[in-house]
Amino acid sequence: MIALASDHAGFELKEAIKKHLLDNNYDIIDMGTNSKNSCDYPIFAKKAAHAVATGQCEKGIVCCGTGIGVSIVANKVKGIRCALCTSEFTAEMAKRHNNANMVAFGARVSETEDVLRMVDVWLNAQFEEGRHQRRIDMMED
Ligand code: RB5
Repeated sequence: MIALASDHAGFELKEAIKKHLLDNNYDIIDMGTNSKNSCDYPIFAKKAAHAVATGQCEKGIVCCGTGIGVSIVANKVKGIRCALCTSEFTAEMAKRHNNANMVAFGARVSETEDVLRMVDVWLNAQFEEGRHQRRIDMMED
């Protein structure tokens, strides 16, 4: 199960990610927002992060204008490792080295088609464990 959330600036990108995931048979929960009306990103990013932190969802994807606000919010929730991704390389390394359980995207930064490729790369990458697990354990302490 993948949690999705955005503010108004990320709404259309979230909808595109939702369609892409549903088309590819992923189960998703949409935590809002549900329109392009102005809203406060912490409300929605926090909902998605809590869904991941509590185990309701395995992963989460959050969007805002830059991806910065939603990633900061998500990373304040214990157990969340949310990577703000801007390229296929960062999306892949977010999983391989950081075992990111959430990713964030900026709708005013990245093209939708690029984001959909980043989502696929992140979902299909494998965590490398070993020294990377030791470093993750250090950040969770
Ligand atoms: C909204 O205008 C914008 O500030 C928000 O989407 C996000 O980019 C914040 O980090």
